[in-house]
Amino acid sequence: MSNIKCEGKKRFLGRLKTCQRTRPLSGNMDRQEEIIKKTELFVKETLSKDSTGHDWWHIHRVRDLAKRIARHEGADIFIVELAALLHDVGDYKFFQGDEEAGEMKVREWLSSLEISPSLIDKILEITSQISFMHTLPDKGKEKNKKNSSATTISKEIMAVTDADRLDAMGAIGIARAFTYGGFFNRPIYEPAIKPSKSITKEEYKTTEAPSINHFYEKLLKLKDMMYTKSGRKMAKRRHRFLNLYLKQFFKEWKGKM
Ligand code: ADP
Ligand code: NI
Repeated sequence: MSNIKCEGKKRFLGRLKTCQRTRPLSGNMDRQEEIIKKTELFVKETLSKDSTGHDWWHIHRVRDLAKRIARHEGADIFIVELAALLHDVGDYKFFQGDEEAGEMKVREWLSSLEISPSLIDKILEITSQISFMHTLPDKGKEKNKKNSSATTISKEIMAVTDADRLDAMGAIGIARAFTYGGFFNRPIYEPAIKPSKSITKEEYKTTEAPSINHFYEKLLKLKDMMYTKSGRKMAKRRHRFLNLYLKQFFKEWKGKM
């Protein structure tokens, strides 16, 4: 059915003014499935060459986890799935640290789907807030915020954020940390380089510290940053595994076993 209509609204896409075309979504499962399928292909293609822990399988796992959490929390599954698929497409690391360029890429994709501006804003609200880095203080204001500074956090943001954080914990989180470290030529461990007690946003972006330090600077903090009950439950187990791994790592380092 051709019920495409141009709202005639001039919306800003950064410097780009467009007349947005939208197609109704509510109650239309086929249309939602089409959007998810198209976005899945776009994300697969965009992240296909990534070796920094943002590969397609990370997205796949986060999508599944986020949907599971969303079901427990009564969040909108379609919004959660779409945001989970797109959550790393705009990552600042792909845009030489430029966070706005990343957001623009996600906005452009969503606009091409001809969905309503309010849905686009909802997805962008999630993808722009999810990063762990945004919870870190700026240089000179060294006090951890623990979570996003936004006053109202929707169930959808909570589900996607918890899912992304869970994938940085446990056995998978360990694998991702060393993959990331290896890609950037970081040593596994260097006893003389201590983890930063209160790492700032700038340090997190530019650190060249050994991968083990990342456990103390991020991974072990995630358990207490979960938003949802179901996220907290899974995080507890994954956190336990991180500690078990570190215990064994240091025993082996000292040749004790
Ligand atoms: P986020 O998007 O939540 O800010 P990142 O993009 O920083 O997360 O991290 C992507 C993956 O790489 C995660 O598994 C994270 O734990 C890992 N990672 C990020 N920075 C480092 C680092 N300095 N050393 C080792 N692993 C890292
Ligand atoms: Ni992610």
